[in-house]
Amino acid sequence: MSDFLAIKPVLVLGSAIGEVDLGQQRQIGGSAFNVARALSRLQVPVVNGMPVGNGEWGMMIEAAMNALGLPVLLRHGQKDNGHRLTQLEPSGKRTLVKVPGCETQWNKAQLAMLPMTPETLIYIHGDELTGESGEALRDWLTRLPFDQWRLIDPGPRVGLLDADFFAMLSDSDTVLTLNRSETATLCGEGEAVTAAQRFAAAHNITLICRLEAEGAWLCDGRNPPLNLAEYRVPVVDTLGAGDAHCAGLLAGISAGWPLPQAVNLANRVAACVVASPGAAGAPGWQQLQQRFPGN
Ligand SMILES: Nc1ncnc2c1ncn2[C@@H]1O[C@H](COP(=O)(O)OP(=O)(O)OP(=O)(O)O)[C@@H](O)[C@H]1O
Ligand SMILES: [Mg+2]
Repeated sequence: MSDFLAIKPVLVLGSAIGEVDLGQQRQIGGSAFNVARALSRLQVPVVNGMPVGNGEWGMMIEAAMNALGLPVLLRHGQKDNGHRLTQLEPSGKRTLVKVPGCETQWNKAQLAMLPMTPETLIYIHGDELTGESGEALRDWLTRLPFDQWRLIDPGPRVGLLDADFFAMLSDSDTVLTLNRSETATLCGEGEAVTAAQRFAAAHNITLICRLEAEGAWLCDGRNPPLNLAEYRVPVVDTLGAGDAHCAGLLAGISAGWPLPQAVNLANRVAACVVASPGAAGAPGWQQLQQRFPGN
């Protein structure tokens, strides 16, 4: 791990939003922002594909991006960023109410101005892809060169993405990352790894199934599914665990690591976030090495 050097830039597309946790300070969140922050901590070059609005949240978001060294590339002149209200339950899960903002508005012109090379890795969360507001993004994502590497975290709204969308991603360099229930929604009921492997083979893309204590499974539809064990830690707060997992994976791929090693890194980064309050506990390299020495 000491020879880690991230090279390929990651275009982080999606939302930065306000987070209001009852009784706590206002923070900046959103899947894309969580991923971008975690990548910055791991010194991975990030291209900022997160729209920034014209209001108070937009100002806070821009300040948070500047603090991470991420200049704003996408601005919205008419709308502020959205926010969500959350409440932490004793289980470590959260309940929430969402107020949408400019992060739900996408168009072709905006996407076309994002700097990209064939090497650029792309990350996006499914919350931005669904419905009418996700149409421009779906279009853009499915029309990229087939060998442009992309990571899609379809998230809890995976059921709202239709079969055509996934059919259009067939044979491309796409990785889908899913938890257990998302795997069942997308790939069908039954044994999760078998269903995921079937889906991967049918579409000729790669799936990562995150099955809690059973670890993560890499299903590419060709080789036998590969298990990467979880790094079990006491749960403090699972907020942003999925996002941290994505960031770890992207960091490994940015450094040119093979996918299994990148998933292993994802498991470590996610474990660090689960073991700390909020989504902001993404580790740097030193912290990772201290927590998981010998990896
Ligand atoms: N108790 C735990 N100990 C260690 N790692 C954990 C634990 N819980 C979760 N993780 C890590 O976090 C990753 C992501 O968690 P999970 O799949 O539950 O996210 P999720 O359901 O997508 O949630 P969200 O998207 O809301 O963050 C898991 O794959 C695993 O690596
Ligand atoms: Mg998730």
